[in-house]
Amino acid sequence: MKSIIVYYSLEGNCKLISNTIAAAIHCDVLELKLKKPVPVKGPMKFITGGRSAMRKASPELATTIPDLSDYELIIVGAPVWAGTFAPAIRTFASKAHVENKKMAFFTCCASGPTEKCIKDMKAVFEGNTVLSDISFVNPSTKDTEKCIDKAKIWAQQFIS
Ligand SMILES: Cc1cc2nc3c(=O)[nH]c(=O)nc-3n(C[C@H](O)[C@H](O)[C@H](O)COP(=O)(O)O)c2cc1C
Repeated sequence: MKSIIVYYSLEGNCKLISNTIAAAIHCDVLELKLKKPVPVKGPMKFITGGRSAMRKASPELATTIPDLSDYELIIVGAPVWAGTFAPAIRTFASKAHVENKKMAFFTCCASGPTEKCIKDMKAVFEGNTVLSDISFVNPSTKDTEKCIDKAKIWAQQFIS
């Protein structure tokens, strides 16, 4: 099935998982970038990013959303921020109007829990069929090889 991964990543964890899945299933990848990026280092990262997540903000994207109508499956990846998904995903959801698609979600967190984040992602992409979801704990720095294997195995279900 023709698939695309759409993800946001501030610190590289979701990027690692996206690239791993994309290589495993040979799908397209769209990285969401913000017009006003959240600082990668220092306390402002948590203040700016956390506040924006808690306020359910939809920050402007620097990324142009392509026509997604040809894709049968859209995999969305997001870091957990303040217990929910990073706000770039909300902007994507509102701009892309994804409907009647197969979807799958992955999250990266520092410790979790991730259930609320996944539930919030399902809600924001209501009207689609969610095939699967999975979470990773800081895969760039913790058990990286195991996480890569876990992502590859998870991705196999999307090959048809
Ligand atoms: C603003 C902000 C808020 C965060 N909030 C949470 C949280 O509520 N729970 C959690 O487990 N990790 C939290 N984290 C950690 C990230 O989810 C985690 O490091 C993730 O792997 C980052 O993914 P990325 O490298 O793709 O950006 C937060 C990180 C940031 C920057």
